[in-house]
Amino acid sequence: MAVAAASTPSLEPRLQATAACARVANRGDDNDNGRAAQAAHDRVGHMASEMISSDLYQEEYEPSFVERWDELINWEGRERGERGFYPRILREHGCERVLDAASGTGFHAVQLAKAGFDVLAADGAPEMVRKTRENAEALGVDLPVQEADWRTLSDDVEGTFDALVCLGNAFTHLFDEDERVQVLAQFHKVLKPGGIVVIDQRNYDSILDQGFTSKHRFYYTGHGVDASPEEITDEYVRFRYTFPDGAVHHLTMAPIRQDYVTGLMADAGFRNIRRYGDFEADYEPLEPDFVVQVGTA
Ligand SMILES: C[S@@+](CC[C@H](N)C(=O)[O-])C[C@H]1O[C@@H](n2cnc3c(N)ncnc32)[C@H](O)[C@@H]1O
Repeated sequence: MAVAAASTPSLEPRLQATAACARVANRGDDNDNGRAAQAAHDRVGHMASEMISSDLYQEEYEPSFVERWDELINWEGRERGERGFYPRILREHGCERVLDAASGTGFHAVQLAKAGFDVLAADGAPEMVRKTRENAEALGVDLPVQEADWRTLSDDVEGTFDALVCLGNAFTHLFDEDERVQVLAQFHKVLKPGGIVVIDQRNYDSILDQGFTSKHRFYYTGHGVDASPEEITDEYVRFRYTFPDGAVHHLTMAPIRQDYVTGLMADAGFRNIRRYGDFEADYEPLEPDFVVQVGTA
């Protein structure tokens, strides 16, 4: 595994993010999902310093990867790692109606619906929407599911919510600061006054400053599955997901820092922002694998 030297810890976070603003040029119209994902992967590799599009996720979550997502996250293991954190936070804030804006295959949406919350599951990737529906049906959970991109969320979903959750390192699919600002404004808009937004991310401070480590207890808990960075730069981190049968998939994410996200949330009008490291309120910034931020609209 070639991990490129990363880290410019002294870089002003906002400047670093601005450097990450990006577009992938020459997007082909290759409709074969596997080939399209590989092509996207190759383009990122060869265009390190060029602009990466926040639409890249649409190509990366292709059917064969989505079909294996649950093998990667392993619902039982992930639930054990979270120790009831999300239902507890939502109850503490008196939430009833919840939007899971990055449902993926439906892990949190189903968990929260089963816990009694009134949940709408949404995702921008059609394959993820299909898989959330399939999982909810298989588990006998009555769950509305729809396609919605965060950038147009308030047009796409109906009504307002007591909570919006955007989990699984999803927010770091955005490579452009203007889009992050736009998305947080959209999140704010679909929340009722006093509602909460819950956003998590990998601990990129620690990845950029100290290199990647994993406690293997959170998020990607599947047996025999490896999720680790193949390449770390200040502009993007390319994660490689290896399955026991040798299948390999990739995701490209923007390595944004905790303070930077807190600042963006505050700028978007969220108040009383609380941070948790690996689901604990008391943590050292470089210690946890994942960081969750909760803000009040
Ligand atoms: C890493 S997955 C996490 C999925 C799920 N929350 C989990 O924890 O397993 C990120 C999800 O965010 C979705 N996503 C990324 N960018 C998006 C956007 N702009 N609008 C809506 N969904 C987006 C992807 O389709 C994907 O399902």
